Amino acid sequence: MNGELLRRRFRVLEGKDGVRRLYDDLAEIYDHSRLLYLTRRLERCEEEVLREWLKKFDSPILDVGCGSGRYSLKLASRGVETISIDLSLKMLKVLLRKLEGHGLRENVHVILADGENLPFRDGSLRGLLCTLTFDHFQEPKKAISEFSRVLKVEGLCVISTLNKEHLKLLRRLLGISADKVPFLGETIPPTLVYETGHTGLEIQQMLSAYGFKSIKLMGCCYWGLFTPFIPKPMFKLLEKLLVKLKNSMKHAALHVAVAKKSPK
Ligand SMILES: C[S@@+](CC[C@H](N)C(=O)[O-])C[C@H]1O[C@@H](n2cnc3c(N)ncnc32)[C@H](O)[C@@H]1O
Repeated sequence: MNGELLRRRFRVLEGKDGVRRLYDDLAEIYDHSRLLYLTRRLERCEEEVLREWLKKFDSPILDVGCGSGRYSLKLASRGVETISIDLSLKMLKVLLRKLEGHGLRENVHVILADGENLPFRDGSLRGLLCTLTFDHFQEPKKAISEFSRVLKVEGLCVISTLNKEHLKLLRRLLGISADKVPFLGETIPPTLVYETGHTGLEIQQMLSAYGFKSIKLMGCCYWGLFTPFIPKPMFKLLEKLLVKLKNSMKHAALHVAVAKKSPK
C-alpha cells in the first residue's frame, strides 16, 4: 500500500517520540481495551512460560518499559525490590495508581527513563526484565549493552520479542510498512508505530556479544498473531501440540530469551 493511502487509514507516529505518544494516548485504556486482544493473548502466553523464572529474580530488579506494571506488581507483591522505568509518564501514572491500590507503593521505585540510556550505575542491579518493549527500541544493541552495564555478574536478564517472521507476514497481509505495527484502541485513531520484531536467536546473539551467557530460549503463543478469535481451550490445545513440532520456535509468535551476565 502506498504511503498516502496508509496515512489516510492510520495515524503514523514516527520514532521514539511516536512510541511515547502512543502509550501516553493508550495509558488509561491499556489494561482494559477490548481492541488490544492480541496484546492480551501474548501476555497470557508469556506469563505461562515466565512463571518459574520470575521466582528466580533477586532484589533489586529493573523492569524496563514496565508499562502499567504487569510484572512490577507481581514482583513487588513477592517482596522483590523493583525499579520500574518507562518512557510514558501516563503509563507510569497508571502503575502508581495500581501500586497505591494494592498497598505496594513502598516496594517499587517508579522512574521516567529511557531503556536505551539507563540512569543507573554499573553493576548495580541483580535482575532485569524487558517484556513486549524491546521491539520498540531504535537501537536494540545499545539497549543490550546498557542492560549488561547495569547488571551484576550472574544477574538474570529476560527479554521477550515478537517473532519477526510472523510480523513480516502480518505486515504483508495488512499492507503496512516494514518497521511499523498497527495499534487500535477505543479512544485513539488507528495508529502505526515503530515496532520491529526479532528472532529469539538474534536476541541470544546480541546478548552473547555483550557479555551474557544464554540460559534458555523459549517460544510461546503459537500462531497467536493470526488466531485471535479461536476460543481459549482450542488455543491452549494448539500451544500444547505445536510446542512438540520440530523447529517449534518458527511457529511461536513470541520468543523469550533468558540469560545471565557472565564474569569478564
Ligand atoms: C507493550 S508495553 C509493555 C509493558 C510491560 N512491559 C508489559 O509487558 O506488560 C510497552 C511499554 O514500553 C514502553 N517503552 C517503549 N520504548 C521505551 C523506551 N525506549 N524506554 C522505556 N520504555 C519504553 C512504552 O511506553 C510501553 O509502556
